[in-house]
Amino acid sequence: MAARLAGFLLLLGLAAPGPAPAAAAKMKVVEEPNAFGLNNPFLPQTSRLQPKRDPSPVSGPAHLFRLSGKCFSLVESTYKYEFCPFHNVTQHEQTFRWNAYSGILGIWNEWEISNNTFRGMWMRDGDSCRSRSRQSKVELTCGKSSRLAHVSEPSTCVYALTFETPLVCHPHSLLVYPALPPALQQRWDQLEQDLADELITAQGYDKWLRVLFEDAGYLKTPEQSESVLEGGAKDLAFQTLESCREAHKELAKELRRLKSVLTQHGIPYTRPAETSSSEHVGPKTPPDGTAEPLRGDPGLRGNTL
Ligand SMILES: *[C@@H]1O[C@H](CO)[C@@H](O)[C@H](O)[C@H]1NC(C)=O
Ligand SMILES: *[C@@H]1O[C@H](CO)[C@@H](O)[C@H](O)[C@H]1NC(C)=O
Repeated sequence: MAARLAGFLLLLGLAAPGPAPAAAAKMKVVEEPNAFGLNNPFLPQTSRLQPKRDPSPVSGPAHLFRLSGKCFSLVESTYKYEFCPFHNVTQHEQTFRWNAYSGILGIWNEWEISNNTFRGMWMRDGDSCRSRSRQSKVELTCGKSSRLAHVSEPSTCVYALTFETPLVCHPHSLLVYPALPPALQQRWDQLEQDLADELITAQGYDKWLRVLFEDAGYLKTPEQSESVLEGGAKDLAFQTLESCREAHKELAKELRRLKSVLTQHGIPYTRPAETSSSEHVGPKTPPDGTAEPLRGDPGLRGNTL
């Protein structure tokens, strides 16, 4: 229809040489009001949809892979939100203003896993928001049809989306273990065995399980997460105050352990603030052969003092 109209206008233009440019300009009727702003090359970069990176590979429960390549939208007041599973979340202001806002609220990054269950999809590295990037967490819930049901912004530039789909209604549909390839399931079995045999602590078990999820591609390693982000990247690892406290407690414990190992072997150490160069610690080796090996894994029982 649009193509035919275009052809018609083109014919008009050819037939009447005078108003041709005007007719050509008129052809640029836009379907969505915001497309005008989007395609305007004179706008500053930030107001056009320019993804900061490619989405992560599709991962997780195989029965959800069919959602890849599809998009689901929700119009709420003056905004249209669009969720494209395993790809992105975008926002489009529904107005005829010449500079209507359109933005990327996140690019598919990693799963949120808790209690060995896929809880939601993290879409990160969206358009800049002060010194950070917009990000969205998409929660998957059971529903009669696949649709974007709800969007909110619980804190500035962090969006919470609820995506309903019949694909997650079965009670086992979001379990992590069945989604893993056999080799990783075996590794998990071994971790369970090691925990039962007290070869690793509960803390070590959690750590190795996280590594396993990273190897499966469900979670990003901290280095992967930091590569794209400017500032503010580190606190993404601590979604709640509780997990931050927990991590702080673990680090403090580890610090005490390392200090006591150093003291035990008469190795001098300085306060953290002064150890910006590594030479304080690096070249010194324990004076005798009875030195406890620093295995670098606080989760191993033998190392816990
Ligand atoms: C968002 O994802 C959809 C679906 O895969 C894709 O067609 C679209 O180009 C993406 N938008 C951006 C801005 O990356
Ligand atoms: C964790 O999952 C198990 C089984 O899937 C369930 O029985 C248990 O209640 C869950 N615990 C929490 C804290 O969600």
